[in-house]
Amino acid sequence: MNKRYADLIQAAAQVRERSYSPYSHFRVGAALLGEDGKIYSGANVENASFGLSICAERTAVFQAVSGGELRFEAIAICTDGTIPTPPCGACRQVLMEFAPALTVLLVGADGSVEEHRLADLLAHPFRSFDFKGADD
Ligand code: THU
Repeated sequence: MNKRYADLIQAAAQVRERSYSPYSHFRVGAALLGEDGKIYSGANVENASFGLSICAERTAVFQAVSGGELRFEAIAICTDGTIPTPPCGACRQVLMEFAPALTVLLVGADGSVEEHRLADLLAHPFRSFDFKGADD
């Protein structure tokens, strides 16, 4: 494990502590490594109107984009699950918008790490050229 990825995993574990998840009691922390070398992190934030809840991965993406970074190398995801938990389909699609070559590090509560490629987790993403005209 290289140091940058070890730091990324540590950031994801740290932000998981900030999870607001009083309904599911399932804490998730995500940390994105930008091409600028900075780490952008986010936790899941739930709501009494359950459908308004947001996943940790998308919180991290929105933090990064709001901070001016649009390109990412890797994401680390730490949950309370005993085994590494992959991101939901909605988060895969949002990540794909910015980082088709993303490395996805899934970290289990026992510290085990699985490494995946986003392109393997989301085989046929919806893309902007699916709706743009030929001369766009
Ligand atoms: N959750 C995430 O943060 N990321 C995912 O990819 C899937 C699920 C959150 C949403 C909700 O707060 C809790 O986990 C249970 O679904």
